[in-house]
Amino acid sequence: MNLNALQFGFNLDHIALESPNPKILANFYKKFLMMEFQEQRDKELICEGKDRKIIFKKGVKNKLAYAGFTCRNKENLVKFKKLIISNNVEILDFNNIHFENESFTIIDPDKNKISFGLRKKTNFSFKNKFCMPLQHLTLSTKNIKKFEHFYNNILGFKITDRVIHQNGSLATCFLTSNHEHHTIACFKSHQIGVDHHSYEVGTWDNIKILCDFFSENNIKIMWGPGRHGPGNNLFIFVEDPDKNWIEFSAELELIDDRNYKEWPQCEKTLNLWGKGILRS
Ligand SMILES: [Fe+2]
Repeated sequence: MNLNALQFGFNLDHIALESPNPKILANFYKKFLMMEFQEQRDKELICEGKDRKIIFKKGVKNKLAYAGFTCRNKENLVKFKKLIISNNVEILDFNNIHFENESFTIIDPDKNKISFGLRKKTNFSFKNKFCMPLQHLTLSTKNIKKFEHFYNNILGFKITDRVIHQNGSLATCFLTSNHEHHTIACFKSHQIGVDHHSYEVGTWDNIKILCDFFSENNIKIMWGPGRHGPGNNLFIFVEDPDKNWIEFSAELELIDDRNYKEWPQCEKTLNLWGKGILRS
């Protein structure tokens, strides 16, 4: 394949999570992720801050309802759609209300619904300017080779790093659809699901501000501060009331034309500074 998703420059725009208690989650994200806009529409609870949007739907805990990637303009979106149709990817009959009409949705090998579209214009003016855009989604899968093949060869995401078990099998893959190290990643696991989602806060100072903010609000940092090997980003993780993992990242590597690197599956790859949480 000559074209790839990278050339079209897709950013992660929103994720929608299922929860038995959407209202409790929405309140958590409103307060602690500084979401200023909240609306109930079409059985969805929508929370939005500047460059970050998360949606909650009644359902099963820790389950992805769908995710949306947005690109720079309609021309790129149309070209990308042609590309994936030529790769025999089925377009789902699913209306993503967060995107303009030209959007479309596919399912990946684990039946995750992934939409591609153009963000709807909003007149809402966000007062809180803390820079914390939604940046990547990390999933878990039973068949990571299939996941990697689909996102890389069929959708055209670029592989930036791979983590390899001692027996040579793939443990984790990182792929991107823009200039950042990864916009989607996946861990091999015994279950299909969401591992975490991440907000990019840019600087170490902002990580420190968040640590103090969470401490004042009695929210425990469950992992970090640390620095990942792949992506070289600083990180902290907290949990929401459904125990979804939320990452705040800074200094994520910006990629050029480099080839992917392979890392050993060990604690230090997950955290160059100390304790690693191995998923498999
Ligand atoms: Fe992450």
